[in-house]
Amino acid sequence: MRVKLLRLLPLLPLLLVPSLLTPGHAGPTAGTQHYILRSGWWVHNANGSLELPAEVPGCVLGALLQRGLVQDPYYRFNDLDYRWISLDNWTYSNEFKFPFNISKWQKVNLIFEGVDTVAEIFFNNVSIGKTDNMFRRYSFDITSVARDVNSLELRFQSAVLYAAQESRAHRGLPVPPACPPPQQNGECHVNFIRKEQCSFSWDWGPSFPTQGIWRDVSIEAFDICCLSHFTFFPIYDNTAQVWSVEIESAFDVVSSKPVGGQAVVAIPTLQTRQTFRLELQPGESVVELSVRINKSIIVEAWWPHGHGDQIWYNMTVLFELDGDIYIEKSAKVYFRTVELVEEPIDGSPGLSFYFRINGFPIFLKGSNWIPADAFQERVTPDVLRLLLQSVVDANMNALRVWGGGIYEQDAFYELCDELGVMVWQDFMFASALYPASQGFLDSVQAEVAYQVRRLKPHPSVILWSGNNENEGLLAMNWFQVPLSDLETYIKDYVTLYVANIREVVLAGDKTRPFVPSSPSNGVETIAEGWVSRDPYSNHYGDVHFYDYDNDCWNWTVFPKARFVSEYGYQSWSSFSTLEKVSVKEDWSYNSTFTYHRQHHLDGNKEMLRQAALHFRLPEGPDPVRTFRDMLYLTQVVQAQCIKIETEFYRRSRSEIVAGEGHTMGALYWQLNDIWPAPSWSSLEYGGKWKMLHYFARRFFDPLLPVGFEDKDVFYIHGVSDLHEDQNVTLTLMVHSWHSLQPQCAHSTEPLVMKAGAATHLYSEPVARLLRRCGNCTRQACVASFHLSAGGELVSPVNYHFLSSLKDAEGLLKAHITATISQRGDAFAIDLETSAVAPFVWLDVGSVPGRFSDNGFLMTEKTRTVLFHPWAPTSKSDLEQSLHVTSLTDIY
Ligand SMILES: *[C@@H]1O[C@H](CO)[C@@H](O)[C@H](O)[C@H]1NC(C)=O
Ligand SMILES: *[C@@H]1O[C@H](CO)[C@@H](O)[C@H](O)[C@H]1NC(C)=O
Ligand SMILES: *[C@@H]1O[C@H](CO)[C@@H](O)[C@H](O)[C@H]1NC(C)=O
Ligand SMILES: *[C@@H]1O[C@H](CO)[C@@H](O)[C@H](O)[C@H]1NC(C)=O
Ligand SMILES: *[C@@H]1O[C@H](CO)[C@@H](O)[C@H](O)[C@H]1NC(C)=O
Ligand SMILES: *[C@@H]1O[C@H](CO)[C@@H](O)[C@H](O)[C@H]1NC(C)=O
Ligand SMILES: *[C@@H]1O[C@H](CO)[C@@H](O)[C@H](O)[C@H]1NC(C)=O
Ligand SMILES: *[C@@H]1O[C@H](CO)[C@@H](O)[C@H](O)[C@H]1NC(C)=O
Ligand SMILES: *[C@@H]1O[C@H](CO)[C@@H](O)[C@H](O)[C@H]1NC(C)=O
Repeated sequence: MRVKLLRLLPLLPLLLVPSLLTPGHAGPTAGTQHYILRSGWWVHNANGSLELPAEVPGCVLGALLQRGLVQDPYYRFNDLDYRWISLDNWTYSNEFKFPFNISKWQKVNLIFEGVDTVAEIFFNNVSIGKTDNMFRRYSFDITSVARDVNSLELRFQSAVLYAAQESRAHRGLPVPPACPPPQQNGECHVNFIRKEQCSFSWDWGPSFPTQGIWRDVSIEAFDICCLSHFTFFPIYDNTAQVWSVEIESAFDVVSSKPVGGQAVVAIPTLQTRQTFRLELQPGESVVELSVRINKSIIVEAWWPHGHGDQIWYNMTVLFELDGDIYIEKSAKVYFRTVELVEEPIDGSPGLSFYFRINGFPIFLKGSNWIPADAFQERVTPDVLRLLLQSVVDANMNALRVWGGGIYEQDAFYELCDELGVMVWQDFMFASALYPASQGFLDSVQAEVAYQVRRLKPHPSVILWSGNNENEGLLAMNWFQVPLSDLETYIKDYVTLYVANIREVVLAGDKTRPFVPSSPSNGVETIAEGWVSRDPYSNHYGDVHFYDYDNDCWNWTVFPKARFVSEYGYQSWSSFSTLEKVSVKEDWSYNSTFTYHRQHHLDGNKEMLRQAALHFRLPEGPDPVRTFRDMLYLTQVVQAQCIKIETEFYRRSRSEIVAGEGHTMGALYWQLNDIWPAPSWSSLEYGGKWKMLHYFARRFFDPLLPVGFEDKDVFYIHGVSDLHEDQNVTLTLMVHSWHSLQPQCAHSTEPLVMKAGAATHLYSEPVARLLRRCGNCTRQACVASFHLSAGGELVSPVNYHFLSSLKDAEGLLKAHITATISQRGDAFAIDLETSAVAPFVWLDVGSVPGRFSDNGFLMTEKTRTVLFHPWAPTSKSDLEQSLHVTSLTDIY
């Protein structure tokens, strides 16, 4: 294929885009010209057979897609078909004219906010530097090479070839794993390149090792000095009981003499205004300002979602420097404290592991975040807002930004600040050993210093974590390295995460805790020399837990750990999501396509095995119908498994049983999808809620009654995340499957739900409960329960199955009708059922939006749910697209 596009030669002036005033990098100033270089980019492959315009920020595949030279990369098997793109070496180029007289300025810098990944940069044919780390910001001095009319070239090398080459050149012990497992269809040696680790494939994601300029490029010309970075963090002095804001600015001073001046910091709402005299020395000059907030002024704290508001204060910093230089920065400042509490617990060996925000213990409820797309230029702030709004809509208060993806863009953390989502921030190292050569360490140091500086103003970020699972893999010797070499590997591990990353973090940020890995054992890991014998211990730190073989309805299989930062089960995306990337021949559970999309070994079989424990598998004459029913069932099974597991963790927060308990965090794996495929996610690619996400909205509710059995006794515990005790009435009902009339219903006297605790509310032997409820049997009946106060429902309606649903007796085929009417911005859907119906599922295909509730057990004849659209839609669109399914429909 040879495509040569006509190259527009008239030189385009630089596109002038005002810089955003975000912390971490400098904006325009009076003494500075700052331009973002967005237009005029071209890209060509190594032999020049392809040459085409390119968007920056963007990547090669994006440019090819825009020109129609490739199709949707997520369509069917295109991930394999487009592998050639990442194996070629591409060159980005731009020719431009400065819109000002360049010779007038003392210094000109070329700044890259993100280059993906390995490139040599030529400015007017002169090599000005190289890049090899997509997580760094690069600044190059181009003063001596800049002219009126300029050419800029980034000669990329294939990331895949580079990683292989680095691995070959590596001296010393091998650095496993060499390659991902074959079912991932991925590329090898990703641990040798500082690039999004999952871009070479993961067990839920495709291999698209992008090449390109993934963040803005800008040019900055200045005299005397410019602000090269600006950041800050609020800090609370416990002894003096005062807040201060520590502001850190770095200047590039080109004047040969010191530059005098002053800085004025103002936080008007806190009646704070302070002036500092400055003298900037030639060269790199760092200025640290400490602004104390007067003790008599009330500072309102930032709280996680569900615990209070997310109050911020506007701060401005004005630098007035000799030579009429005025540099102004403004930022939102949020105040909160965070402590990671590791202390002895009565009756339990080991130490606690929980977060205290503003002095208040908080149970972390949430999930794990992965990159929202293999092509980051598609992850717009709107995409992020939709996903993060879904996080808080599901009553979550925390996300872990997992170490195999990227440090997210500023907009992500700004939204987390705004919405009250706490972020457990991993550094980007995952499930692998890494080199500890000097070149690699230097690159990592620069990366960590930059990311800490960029992210530390955000109250949402509550923890730094060195890596994903790398302590565990050494402790368990996943890669079966010779035992005689283990000590060397551990030494390299400590060099990377402790001597380098931890040191850089501690130097840059004193306001939040650091753990070396997830999972790890907190201070016990340190005591054991940074690699503990059992990082998965229930007595220390966090754990990750996966078990696909045992029955997930049996809560005794789950670890009663201090904090569970990963756990999960897979499901398939809905048909409307898969339909867009497949054709009819793909629509069977056994097709080449469904096999190709499943990157987790035996994942499709595992889902069926877990399903078969409690459900009958769909079968029928229509293969497409059976496929759709199977997709539905995998979502039912995933939602039910993670419900039982999460409820177990939440009800374990206040108790110690057999030395274990005091669980204070449940972050399931995983929130979102990178492409349409089977995965552990609760949100599909595009943001559609799976059944699990609706379940999460209920099982993460601040007030939740949890039902479970222990030795044939049925218990209901009440979990409260509230700050105050609450008096509630518990209502328990038992229905037989064949009747909408309850067999029995019983409400308790008012009970006290203790603040921030799990409390025993009720217990009764199952046999007695069944007997008094119309002589029910386990197979014939189901229990449901809820909390109310003053006659109002204050919790979700929860339920407990007394037997597997495949053994259920009397379950009738439910006929459910739906009537839709507009109600304000939403649509009301009035449902009416002919029989008790488990897992009632409303699906409007590709109409974007979410329901107020879904996937529920319907024991009442009528029920109204709301549909909240995310884009304009109409009653008739919804009428056409709405399908209502419940469990008996798939048999
Ligand atoms: C140029 O490289 C592409 C791969 O990017 C290849 O398909 C094509 O055959 C090459 N063309 C020539 C003339 O070598
Ligand atoms: C890409 O660059 C690498 C390293 O310089 C080289 O080995 C390889 O042959 C190049 N590939 C192409 C298609 O030019
Ligand atoms: C640009 O500025 C330099 C130095 O001030 C001056 O010598 C030159 O004439 C100017 N060029 C133009 C085109 O204005
Ligand atoms: C860059 O160098 C090439 C050959 O080395 C030459 O053909 C070209 O004219 C030069 N371009 C500029 C802008 O100097
Ligand atoms: C911060 O400043 C912006 C713009 O001046 C203003 O709209 C906003 O209300 C201010 N917010 C607070 C919390 O002071
Ligand atoms: C639940 O799992 C435990 C092991 O964790 C096992 O001993 C027990 O028999 C299981 N219970 C049921 C009801 O399957
Ligand atoms: C898939 O194929 C296997 C083996 O042919 C068969 O046993 C199984 O029933 C099939 N499953 C589905 C869902 O079609
Ligand atoms: C809750 O009930 C207790 C008695 O059980 C009573 O003393 C208390 O005032 C009640 N609290 C509220 C908020 O109603
Ligand atoms: C339940 O069954 C027993 C024995 O068949 C009978 O004596 C009893 O009256 C029944 N109870 C109810 C509530 O139906």
